[in-house]
Amino acid sequence: MPKDNSDFFKHKKIWSEVKDELLGCYMVPYFNKILSMGNPILYVDCFAGKGKFDDGKAGSPLTALQSLDKSIEAYHGRYPMPTVSMKFIELNHYQDLDSNIPLQHLGRCKVIVGKFEDNIKPLLQNAMSLNRALNVFLYVDPYGVKVLNATLFDSLAVAFSTAELLINLNSFGFIREACRVKKVTFREREKMKFSVTLKSMIARF
Ligand SMILES: C[S@@+](CC[C@H](N)C(=O)[O-])C[C@H]1O[C@@H](n2cnc3c(N)ncnc32)[C@H](O)[C@@H]1O
Repeated sequence: MPKDNSDFFKHKKIWSEVKDELLGCYMVPYFNKILSMGNPILYVDCFAGKGKFDDGKAGSPLTALQSLDKSIEAYHGRYPMPTVSMKFIELNHYQDLDSNIPLQHLGRCKVIVGKFEDNIKPLLQNAMSLNRALNVFLYVDPYGVKVLNATLFDSLAVAFSTAELLINLNSFGFIREACRVKKVTFREREKMKFSVTLKSMIARF
């Protein structure tokens, strides 16, 4: 049965805090480095969410924009800044997302309404036809792995000046899917045992 994610954005949970901290830590040096190379950047948050959680905490789109702000500040006064275009693909929460984008970033941001799997290829093909010297960064944070097609990611490296992916997968979902593909039975009770062992190991530390 698919997991109920209806309250995902009510309060920012600890795992979302950690995910966004990692994203923010990675994006500042990424923007610093790539901006200094002078070519434009296309950043795509492929499963963007609301932008902000209902408790006011930043989600991945705002986290990436805050990182960009820090890099722009550090860039100040150097060569003309390359353009940075931010695309946010979201199937369900696109209205909230649209209204959560800070005013000063509206010009560089676009919310793409719909499914990642329908939109990502046309988006990248269009970007490539406009500029092959683009630097592309994809942040991929789905609820599950089923919609991810690895062939898409294989083609990225040859299509753009640079291409980077940051993929965030739920480890149990990933193992469950791997078992399905390999036709190995995945037992929920084993999962529970593993979870309890893991928790007791963490508690011991
Ligand atoms: C794990 S949440 C993303 C959270 C977000 N990265 C953050 O940290 O704020 C996954 C998001 O993907 C959206 N979604 C679900 N299926 C999708 C699909 N096929 N294409 C695009 N978005 C989808 C959901 O509505 C949800 O907002």
